[in-house]
Parts: sequence; structure tokens; C-alpha cells
Amino acid sequence: MNNAVLVCEKLGKSFIQGGHEIKVLQDLDLEVAAGEKIAVIGVSGSGKTTLLNLLGGIDTPSSGRVLVNGSDLAVLGSREQDLLRNHSLGFVYQFHHLLGEFSALENVAMPLIIARRPWSECQQRARDLLTRVGLGARLAHRPSQLSGGERQRVAIARALVNNPLCVLMDEPTGNLDRQSALSIHDLIQELNEQLKTSFILVTHDNTLASRMDRVLVLQDGMLKPFQAQPQ
Ligand SMILES: Nc1ncnc2c1ncn2[C@@H]1O[C@H](COP(=O)(O)OP(=O)(O)OP(=O)(O)O)[C@@H](O)[C@H]1O
Ligand SMILES: [Mg+2]
Repeated sequence: MNNAVLVCEKLGKSFIQGGHEIKVLQDLDLEVAAGEKIAVIGVSGSGKTTLLNLLGGIDTPSSGRVLVNGSDLAVLGSREQDLLRNHSLGFVYQFHHLLGEFSALENVAMPLIIARRPWSECQQRARDLLTRVGLGARLAHRPSQLSGGERQRVAIARALVNNPLCVLMDEPTGNLDRQSALSIHDLIQELNEQLKTSFILVTHDNTLASRMDRVLVLQDGMLKPFQAQPQ
């Protein structure tokens, strides 16, 4: 597919633990089209976070390959990989990974600062996104001064700040109350419509999953279309 933003081909990942090989992913294929929204569900330990880490180049596959916007991550040098990641992908981790020494505004602006955008632009864009996620009055707070749900919203704003082609989210609304979760759902919908951002969301939130174009289940190391069980 020409307009695929992310492709994985025959992706495999094993971990060696105590002399045993644990196969987490096996021959997994996936194509994410521009503007496509995909939910990935699966039981705890099925490999959802492992998959996102491979898609984002945070971890390397044991077999198979990952193409980000047509480029094979494995053949790029680490600097080129970083550039591609910085321009093409946004991440929301299962645990927020904010930088403790920096304010909410600086955390959100960080991908733009790394991309050497002018500071006024970084600040403006970070402020806009934090306002969008309901944190316009928390710009100067450090992560330790924010609630769990507020930290999660800062992490979401950070993932979106450089208008990535595709955003990878691991349980983005896991710690949020219903109201905040719904405002994140709306934000995802809006960015998807306005900017054609693709989303891959790992979620246990059925409402969020039902708003995606496709729901895939990670089971036995592979992705399968989700079929609701008859009642
Ligand atoms: N670095 C590692 N070394 C060894 N085993 C690992 C490593 N990372 C993950 N695993 C194993 O791989 C399996 C999949 O882990 P993963 O974190 O991807 O699951 P998950 O689907 O995200 O689960 P959860 O819903 O609980 O977050 C687990 O059995 C885990 O123990
Ligand atoms: Mg996980």
C-alpha cells in the first residue's frame, strides 16, 4: 500500500528468560493507512506494549521488519532513526515518562525543541495543546505537582505537538475519569479529521475502541480482527 504510514512484515519478538525463549510476537503483519485509527486489545501479557515498542523503534524485532513512512527502521543509522521518529511518530507510553525537572509546558514542547524549532513557536504550540487537554492553568507545574490523570494529559499533548503522521498510545485513558477520557476521545477524533493523523491505541476502554476504524486482538503473537462474542 502506497499511503501506509506504518507497516510491519512477519514481525517476531522473543525474550530469553532464565534460559527459556518466550515468543511474544510471531509473524505479525500490519498495515496502517494514512488517517486510519486502530484499536489493539488483548489480555495482559499478550504483547501489546512489546508491539508498540517495535513499531516505534524503541525496541528491535527478533525477526521481520518495520517500515515507518516507507523506510525500514533497521537499515537506518541511529541519528536517521531518531529524526524519522521525531518527525513521523508520537508516543503515549503506558507509564507517562515525563521529564521530572521540566514544567508541563517544557515537557510538551520538548519534541519541537529537539527539532530546533524557534522557542516562541515551541511555547505557543505547547500552550495551545495543553489548553486543548484542559491544562491551560497548569503550564508551569512540574510532573510531581500534577495528578496522575493530568500527567497523562501532558503526555498526550506531548505526543501530538509535532503533528506526527501516526500516534502510538498505550492505554491513553487508563487513569482518567470519564469526562477527561471523553475529551481525549474528542481530541483524537478532531486531529484525525483535521490532520489525517493515524492512531494505534492499546486500550481496554470499549467506548474508545468502538470509535476506531478497526479493532484488532493480539492473541498468540498475532493480530486478528476483533469479533464481538454473540450475547
Ligand atoms: N524485556 C523483557 N524481558 C523478558 N520478557 C519480557 C520483556 N518485556 C516483556 N516481556 C514479556 O513479554 C510478554 C508481553 O509483555 P507486554 O508488556 O508486551 O504485555 P502487554 O500486552 O502490554 O500487557 P499489559 O496489558 O499488562 O500491559 C509478557 O509475558 C512479559 O513478561
Ligand atoms: Mg502493556
